[in-house]
Amino acid sequence: MRLAPRVPFKEEIHVKCRNGWLKALGEDISLFGVKFRLDNWESCEDKDWVKLKLRINNRENVLNGRIYRKEGSNRAVVLFNEEDMMISQTIGSFLTSQVRSNGRCPYCKSSVASDIQECPSCHMPLDFTRVDLVSALRRIKVGDLITGKLPEEIKGKVCQEEKVEFIGSCDSMKKVFDLIRKYAPTDYPVLILGETGTGKELTARAIHERSHRKKGPFVAINCAAIPKELLEAELFGYEKGAFTGAERRKVGKVELADGGTLFLDEVGELPMELQAKLLRFLEDLSFERVGGTKGIKADVRVIAATNKNLKELVEQGLFREDLYYRLKVLTISLPPLRDREDDVIIMAKYFLEKFSKEQGKEILGFTDDASELIRNYSWPGNVRELINVLRKAVVLTDKKYIDAGDLDIDADKVSKEIAGKGIFNLKEHIEKLEQELVEKAYRITGGNVSKMASMLGVSRPTVYKLMEKYGLS
Ligand SMILES: Nc1ncnc2c1ncn2[C@@H]1O[C@H](COP(=O)(O)OP(=O)(O)O)[C@@H](O)[C@H]1O
Ligand SMILES: [Mg+2]
Repeated sequence: MRLAPRVPFKEEIHVKCRNGWLKALGEDISLFGVKFRLDNWESCEDKDWVKLKLRINNRENVLNGRIYRKEGSNRAVVLFNEEDMMISQTIGSFLTSQVRSNGRCPYCKSSVASDIQECPSCHMPLDFTRVDLVSALRRIKVGDLITGKLPEEIKGKVCQEEKVEFIGSCDSMKKVFDLIRKYAPTDYPVLILGETGTGKELTARAIHERSHRKKGPFVAINCAAIPKELLEAELFGYEKGAFTGAERRKVGKVELADGGTLFLDEVGELPMELQAKLLRFLEDLSFERVGGTKGIKADVRVIAATNKNLKELVEQGLFREDLYYRLKVLTISLPPLRDREDDVIIMAKYFLEKFSKEQGKEILGFTDDASELIRNYSWPGNVRELINVLRKAVVLTDKKYIDAGDLDIDADKVSKEIAGKGIFNLKEHIEKLEQELVEKAYRITGGNVSKMASMLGVSRPTVYKLMEKYGLS
C-alpha cells in the first residue's frame, strides 16, 4: 500500500526557469510533486526554484516548486513548495476526480465506487480536497511508507481536524464566519474588505467551498498584478486576430470560472472601462471576448476584494458608483490582526506547531517575551506577516522555545507602534520603579527625609522633590 497517491498526468506543463517558460510533458502527479519530460533544457539547472503552469480540471494553476533532474536524463520532477491549502485545492481536487473516474483506491488499488469518501478495503479517506488529509499525507516520511502500514496517529489526525484552516475565535471573526455561512448559498456578488494579509482570498475560498458551486472552479485574478492594457483580455478572453499577436482564440478568466466562482482581487484597481464591462456582466452574466461581437454567457458568481476604501474612490471619481452599489450589497469586513484579541496568539501557536512539524523540529512554544511581542506588535502585514515571521523563526532557531529575538519583526515599527501603549517605554517604567522605591522608603522611615535620602542615595532636596512629585508629605 502506498501513502503518496499518484495518478497519471499526461498533460502539457509549462515550467518557468531562469530565462522564461519551457514546455514539458507531464507523466504523473502526486501531492508532493509532478514528474515530466523536458526535451530542451535551455536554462534550467538541478535544484532551481521554478514556477509551474498546469491545467487541472480545466483551470490554469501556477505552483511554485523546486526542480530535480538527473544529469543526462530528460526526465525531471518538481517538488511543490506550496501550502497544504493550495495543494488540496489544485492537485488534491485532481486526484479526487481521477480516483472517482477510474474507480481505484490510490492506496491499496482495490476498486471503489465513484462517490465514496473512504476506501471500503483499506479505510483510507479519498477526498483529497480536504486540507487536513493533504497535510497529514504530506507529512509522512519515506520510512513510514516502507513499513506499509498506516500510522494510527495519522489516521486519527486525518479524521479529527477541521476541513479548512481558517482560525478565528474573537467576536469579530465569529461574525465573519457567520456571514460566510449566510452568504455562501446565495449567488449574489460578495465584497470583501480588509487590509493586506487579513484573509480576503481565504474568505472567498471559504464562501466558494460552502456554496453549491464547490465542485466548480475557483478562479482568482488580481487586478493590480496585471498591466491595465492586458486586463480585459485576461478577464474576458480574445478572439483570433483581435490584435497583433492574437494568433489563437483565448478564453478569459470569466469563462474559465463557468459553473464556479470568480475572485476579483484588488477590484479597486479595475480601470473605468472595465468597470462598465464588469457591471454589464453582473447584470445579465453575458459578455464579449476582446475583438468578438457575439455575446457569451458564463454562469459565474463574482466575489470581489479590496484593501482600498472604495467609497473614497467613488467620491474621487475613480470607481463607478453603480458598480460600487452593485458589489457592496453583501459585504464582509475582515478586521486587522491587531484587533483580533487572543486570536493572534492562538494563531501563532497553531502555525508554530505546524511549521515545527513541517521542519521536523521539536519546538515547545514561545518565551514570555516573545508572546508579549506577538500580542503587542501591530502586524501591518496581518496573518501573512505572522506566518512568514514564524516560518522564518522555526527555520532559524535551535532552541526549544522561540524567543523575542527569533522573531524578525521591524524593531522600528515595534517601538513606534507600541510606545503609545507604554510597553517598551523606558521612561514610564523607570518612573514607576522610582515611585515604588520612594513610597517604600517613605513607609519604612515614617517619612524621615534624612533617612530617606541616605536610603535612596540622593540629596535631601531631591527627596523633597520626589515626595512632592508622588504626593507624599
Ligand atoms: N484566519 C486565518 N486562519 C488561518 N490562516 C489565515 C487566516 N487568515 C489568513 N490566513 C492565511 O494568511 C495568508 C494570507 O491570506 P490571504 O487570504 O491571501 O489574505 P489577503 O487576500 O487579504 O491578502 C494565507 O496564507 C492565508 O491562508
Ligand atoms: Mg490577497
